[in-house]
Amino acid sequence: MTIVVTGATGQLGHLAVEALLRRGADPTDVVATGRDLTKLADLAERGVRTVAADYSDPASLRAAFDGADRVLFVSGSEVGQRVAQHTNVVEAAVAAGVGLLVYTSIPQADTSDLVLAQEHRATEQVIRESGLPWVFLRNSWYLENYTPQVPTYLEHGAVLGAAGQGQVSAAARADFADAAAAVLLDPGATGGTVHELGGTESFTLAELAAAVADASGQDVTYTDLPETELVAALVGAGLPEPYAAVLADADRGIADGALEVTTGDLERLIGRAPTTMREAVTDAVTALRAARA
Ligand SMILES: NC(=O)c1ccc[n+]([C@@H]2O[C@H](COP(=O)([O-])OP(=O)(O)OC[C@H]3O[C@@H](n4cnc5c(N)ncnc54)[C@H](OP(=O)(O)O)[C@@H]3O)[C@@H](O)[C@H]2O)c1
Repeated sequence: MTIVVTGATGQLGHLAVEALLRRGADPTDVVATGRDLTKLADLAERGVRTVAADYSDPASLRAAFDGADRVLFVSGSEVGQRVAQHTNVVEAAVAAGVGLLVYTSIPQADTSDLVLAQEHRATEQVIRESGLPWVFLRNSWYLENYTPQVPTYLEHGAVLGAAGQGQVSAAARADFADAAAAVLLDPGATGGTVHELGGTESFTLAELAAAVADASGQDVTYTDLPETELVAALVGAGLPEPYAAVLADADRGIADGALEVTTGDLERLIGRAPTTMREAVTDAVTALRAARA
């Protein structure tokens, strides 16, 4: 069975290829695709086939999907362009007669009011209407949206957000990638399946701050801001305004439960407990100490 992974030059896609190999896939059955083949050199060295593919270049996609039985379609990162790009991916998968298209989406994509959900909802619709068998992996937030900020949290003694008391079911990218690999390798995986994926233990941003404080021994508290003030703070920290606005909107959604997932689908798919927020924070603090030692 030939499995093609798009976005393999990125973090999630790369981890998904590694998870496929760890789960026993033959490297020669796996095709890793991306725009820049040099970023796939390590996978090529392990025997994985690598093919250049750009979501904006339909011919490259058709060539990449030639002979594919299953495709992991990692959502693109160029917000605003993704519906057109993703439509190209779906059309190429149809042309290649792909047997299962597995798309990485966002929780409750069909009803979510998050700004980020709009392109996922449109993509899911294009996929549903394509006639292809599909699986949607509706991934909640990555823990890695928070852990790289641990040095900043410690510097300011604060986690800033606009998520109120909302729970976020963040999980490690590697766990979401492992779930994708499990689905891709499951002979019983059938089309028309939605997996709502998130960490088993959801948390508030106040609990995130408490975990950083516990792991570091320093005072770190959560400051909840109005959404507009969070945008201003993020812009002040150097983020472009449109990006800051999307992040603040995500926090507004977290306050309303938009990234809370209680299905247990992630733990069930990977067959083990996902990495918890406290484990990830402890690792980040340990790594920071080692880097500063
Ligand atoms: N759940 C979350 O918390 C969260 C957070 C951020 C993003 N996301 C979504 O999840 C996806 C995967 O996350 P990630 O952390 O792996 O992101 P990432 O490291 O930025 O990887 C994004 C991947 O998409 C590829 N891509 C973007 N535009 C493309 C195009 N026009 N043609 C071909 N490939 C294209 C990138 O290729 P290049 O290497 O060529 O740029 C890269 O391989 C993101 O793209 C985004 O849709 C989810």
